[in-house]
Amino acid sequence: MKVGILTGGGDCPGLNAVIRGVVRKGIFHYQDEFVGFLEGWRGVVENLTMPLDLNAIAGILPRGGTILRTSRTNPAKKPGGIEACIATLKRHNIDALIAIGGDDTLSVAVKLNEKGIHVIGVPKTIDNDLTGTDFCFGFDTAVNIATEAIDRLHTTAEAHNRVIVVEVMGRNSGWIAIYSGVAGGADEILIPEKSFNLDEVAEALKRRHARGRYFSIVVVAEGVQPPDNIGVETGSQVVSGVGKDDFGHVRLGGIGNLLAREIERRTGFESRAVILGHIQRGGSPTAFDRMLATRYGIGAIDAVHRADFGKMVALRGTDIVTVPLSEATSRTRVVGQDLIDVALGLHDRSSLAAGGVSQSTSTSKP
Ligand code: F6P
Repeated sequence: MKVGILTGGGDCPGLNAVIRGVVRKGIFHYQDEFVGFLEGWRGVVENLTMPLDLNAIAGILPRGGTILRTSRTNPAKKPGGIEACIATLKRHNIDALIAIGGDDTLSVAVKLNEKGIHVIGVPKTIDNDLTGTDFCFGFDTAVNIATEAIDRLHTTAEAHNRVIVVEVMGRNSGWIAIYSGVAGGADEILIPEKSFNLDEVAEALKRRHARGRYFSIVVVAEGVQPPDNIGVETGSQVVSGVGKDDFGHVRLGGIGNLLAREIERRTGFESRAVILGHIQRGGSPTAFDRMLATRYGIGAIDAVHRADFGKMVALRGTDIVTVPLSEATSRTRVVGQDLIDVALGLHDRSSLAAGGVSQSTSTSKP
């Protein structure tokens, strides 16, 4: 068969491991031929390709980024964009297309599938917020990077008697924040799924310092909407740039700075903010992500040969399965109460339990 592969949306450690898994199994076991479409859907719209043979994938397993490069191009936003994709795929005689991406990339895959294109999706996002799978590859690497940063920030916070607010990624979900916050022993973890009261956060920090701990670590997800008016409109996310991308997303960033200022004002404790940003997406994937990405790659090419189209490979428990692409893109998977309870169990504050879940699909297991 002739199979196309693309990587779309924000990059993610493990993308190259997926590509390698697909190509190796496809060539060794199915005698497939591969075409790499460059820069996400842009490559399909504009016919930008590279050959994907064993040579092209040699040595890429531990490499971050993606040899196919990526973009946030949305063909559905361009006049004739979807038709252009179909024309390019026909021109290359593509029998099936493997789209590696998050909900944006896969929403385009759904549209093409509806037009009769044979598509398989692979769940990619460090945010870990795709429905239908227990884990997206790249998340584990991001959590490990954030946890190491929190460990490092502990020692400097302690040396200076400071509060350090660590802003991690997570557009609409607090997966990285809750995992790295718990793993790194943060004193407060603020996520988009739960409302919070800044006075109560400040009081909890004061109580901690009164107990003889003169420093604190606060982890916040970038997508948190501040409850009080602290420099942005109440209930709005904090943005670091103007405009929106092709999928209508604002550029988030800066909640950490606002919180550090407010915490200092309300507690009197000297505070600093650190925004981890794209460091969380860079570099080599963890062994867990290499394994998961490889299993997804093998699962995707096997699904192609079972003609299991319109599906996304997914991890359920310890098994690789396929789920409908339409299910995977139907809603954001947010952190469930079970994990929130873990964080609350460790903290001297119960107000989170009284705050409303801000999104209705709360679950830590699909
Ligand atoms: O989509 C994943 C993500 O890493 C989000 O957590 C973050 O808001 C966004 O990408 C950043 O995107 P960009 O690379 O376009 O700045």
